[in-house]
Amino acid sequence: MGEQNNSQLLSRVATNDGHGENCSYFDGWKAYDRDPFHSTRNPNGVIQMGLAENQLCLDLIQEWIKNNPQASICTDDGVAYFKEIANFQDYHGLPSFRKAIAKFMEKARGSRAKFDPNRVVMSGGATGAQETIAFCLANPGEAFLIPTPYYPGFDRDFRWRTGVQLLPIHCDSSNKFKVTLDALEAAYQNAQKNNITVKGVLATNPSNPLGTTMDRDTLTTLVSFVNRKNIHLVCDEIFSGTVFDKPGFVSVAEIVEDDPCCNRDLVHIVYSLSKDLGVPGFRVGIIYSFNDAVVACARRMSSFGLISTQTQHLLASMLGDDEFTTKFLAESRRRLSERRRIFTAGLKRVGIRCLESNAGLFCWMDLRPLLKAKTVEAELELWRVIINDVKLNISPGTSFHCSEPGWFRVCFANMDDKTTEMALTRIRTFVFRANAAAQEKKKRWNMALRLSLPRRFEDMSIMSPHLMSPQSPLVHAAT
Ligand SMILES: Cc1ncc(COP(=O)(O)O)c(C=O)c1O
Repeated sequence: MGEQNNSQLLSRVATNDGHGENCSYFDGWKAYDRDPFHSTRNPNGVIQMGLAENQLCLDLIQEWIKNNPQASICTDDGVAYFKEIANFQDYHGLPSFRKAIAKFMEKARGSRAKFDPNRVVMSGGATGAQETIAFCLANPGEAFLIPTPYYPGFDRDFRWRTGVQLLPIHCDSSNKFKVTLDALEAAYQNAQKNNITVKGVLATNPSNPLGTTMDRDTLTTLVSFVNRKNIHLVCDEIFSGTVFDKPGFVSVAEIVEDDPCCNRDLVHIVYSLSKDLGVPGFRVGIIYSFNDAVVACARRMSSFGLISTQTQHLLASMLGDDEFTTKFLAESRRRLSERRRIFTAGLKRVGIRCLESNAGLFCWMDLRPLLKAKTVEAELELWRVIINDVKLNISPGTSFHCSEPGWFRVCFANMDDKTTEMALTRIRTFVFRANAAAQEKKKRWNMALRLSLPRRFEDMSIMSPHLMSPQSPLVHAAT
């Protein structure tokens, strides 16, 4: 069926580009799919470093499942519950599940915030939760402000089917990409200038792609900003259990509890077990709102994306096991911290730096010194070399709407130790070769310069080395 036919036969949503899949973030995944790395079957394939998956503690979950066969309705020990569970379809969810997940949410946040099981609304992953909350809070054409860089999936989850817009709050490396009041105000004013109604702010804490947590002051600034403007604050806290270093995690729930003047009706949390527990396939998403009307509406909408009762039943037991969750969260943080340490130390050996971070499943890698020019085109040119020649799928900053070219997100928790080492070796070899080629080129350039230029110009190049130096060691070497 041709494109033109499609646009007549199908809906605007079906034929528009709002899913956001036509971007470098997803192109990287496709490159991996075409040629996936396997240590023995395809050792020269593309290593997947563009997927924020947490595979480091799945062994602990497997062990728990083996030790608790009664938790599953598909075992001899648990099948007695089959009928009851398979028949259950109330959109409130199993009370035991809501209680267990509320408790787990508290624990992942250092037990400094309280979560009421009656406010827990289910959804198909955080993906579904984002869309549901957008449907509840904004009309088509209205907007949410969002700090950059941000998770590319939001363009699909929050915007595509709802028609809600996302407008950037520009953050940059001068203050480690922190959200400031000035940046918030500028984004708000900009929307007003363009006659766009702002309905809220969508923040991610800890940040994907930065791997940093928001400090208490920044969160307080956000909460007072939305109160002043009488708009909403949606906090995606999907990475809250991955905080492995100081400063610790502060949930927006703590700020709300501490501030008696805060209008709670404006604050909503999105959560999921995809990252903290490492089970994205279970599709467990949560909308937690302090607003009664939003809880009621989101619950009605949750009929479109409930969590299977089989999954709820299993998780009610697992997350209700206090000893297990305490051990799991501590061990997960330890393993994440160790993997990050090894990874960043390996990069440092060839002079590559990452933004200082304390959470998440990725690093925000600074490849600005390797760009041919400070442009999006140069960033994408470098990214293509890394995908096609170095065979690593990493994600360019542009796909996260980063306003500074040269940053890349690299995921490190979706692979084993050997693959991590292999990825590091590839990066190091690439940088060594690139630097050597750049040196060689510079030498030849200088020689040619000395032979061809009158003495006066030679003196100039010594006084002002940048004037004559080749622009990018890396890209020149690789092409
Ligand atoms: C910030 C953020 N929100 C939401 C999601 C979607 O998560 P889920 O798998 O629970 O749908 C992701 C996935 O990477 C994410 O990084």
